[in-house]
Amino acid sequence: GAPVEVDISKLEEGQMIRVEWRGKPVWVVRRSQAILDELPTHDDRLRDPQAAEPQQPAYATNEYRSRKPEIFIAVGICTHLGCSPTYLPDTFSEQVSGVPAGFFCPCHGSKFDLAGRVFQGVPAPLNLVVPPHMFLNDNTILVG
Ligand code: FES
Repeated sequence: GAPVEVDISKLEEGQMIRVEWRGKPVWVVRRSQAILDELPTHDDRLRDPQAAEPQQPAYATNEYRSRKPEIFIAVGICTHLGCSPTYLPDTFSEQVSGVPAGFFCPCHGSKFDLAGRVFQGVPAPLNLVVPPHMFLNDNTILVG
């Protein structure tokens, strides 16, 4: 499949853009500074907080799992059995995981934070996959 260009010039904090790449959903989310500040506080509840797993680009091996802290890009497929998790931008806290935003898989209840990092105690074995991508400029991402 060909690489896909994503225009993020209109993407506001908390919003998600969904595109398709190689038949898979890919998500692009703009994270707020509040979310970035909060992410490191989850570490003791995550399976792989430092994202040490090998199946991701080297530039995603950091606590934000991204090239630029504010822009998070992931393949929107649960690492358990392939359902598509739901983005919960602001109600995640009360309803699911005790964090302000993240992703919830309705199939068997896997939970991920807004860096796509999987919580302990759910069926998904791995963090959400970060696809290969690069910034062509501040407002344009090439996925693939
Ligand atoms: Fe997501 Fe099973 S497919 S929890």
